[in-house]
Amino acid sequence: MEFKNLITRKADGIGWVTINRPDKLNALNAETVRELKSAFLELEKDAEVKAVILTGSGEKAFVAGADISELAGLDLTQGKQYALEGQELTKIIENFRKPVLAAINGFALGGGTEIALACHIRIASENAKLGQPEVKLGLIPGFGGTQRLARLIGKGKAMELVLSGRVVEAKEAQEIGLVNKVVPLDNLHVEAETMAKEIVKNAPLALEYAIEAINKGLDRTLGEGLNLEAEIFGRACGTEDSLEGTKAFLEKRKPNFRGK
Ligand code: COA
Repeated sequence: MEFKNLITRKADGIGWVTINRPDKLNALNAETVRELKSAFLELEKDAEVKAVILTGSGEKAFVAGADISELAGLDLTQGKQYALEGQELTKIIENFRKPVLAAINGFALGGGTEIALACHIRIASENAKLGQPEVKLGLIPGFGGTQRLARLIGKGKAMELVLSGRVVEAKEAQEIGLVNKVVPLDNLHVEAETMAKEIVKNAPLALEYAIEAINKGLDRTLGEGLNLEAEIFGRACGTEDSLEGTKAFLEKRKPNFRGK
């Protein structure tokens, strides 16, 4: 895959997507959003890829937000369309059928926090700074931030961050549950890769089903979510890999999962 604003590569079953506009702190212009959609859709089809790590190029920024030069002067209709385009990307990432990890290597502001929120797991470098500063521009988050932030860290903290536009350091981001783990910048890629490799040792369909159950369950009442879980659990029981996983345990050997 050749992209203007992304670098993609595959290694040991992991697909790497690096947003590469370092002179603009990897700000998301419309072209980059389109390229990210294409990259993720390709990686979803690629059987060699078991998990994806999304990061930014350079040592300063993951993504410093939507490209503000493209936001200036949007009218009501264009603004809604702009948000829908970005939300389409975050939905692709959130509902990706393989685990997606964000390796947050610096500023993740506005759209940067929003694409990180759509990832299944977030690992941040010690120099990372996250926030939703849109209100400082007279805007609100439009790529899912008002919805996913509140679901992840709770309404009170989400209100505080979105209304103040305050940017939080990595340590605080971890304390409030916005990121899963904080590591030195030099170790960020290795830590993300190690976590991804640990995850992909598990049965691929079980990973896909777990992502589906957690994502869909959050949109439902507890009762409906539990019904959904039972249904998806049944689906998992119907896979060859569940037979293999349980049999391997009883035979005291490592399972050989085949994604079936
Ligand atoms: N959109 C477009 N360009 C951006 C950008 C964004 N979101 N964030 C940074 N850039 C550009 C800057 O305009 C600058 O470009 P230039 O060299 O052509 O002037 C370049 O990236 C470097 O940024 P700069 O502001 O000089 O770096 P800094 O270290 O002084 O500050 C930030 C870093 C992240 C604090 C600052 O760039 C910033 O506040 N960015 C906007 C963050 C934001 O509001 N995001 C939400 C948008 S909805």
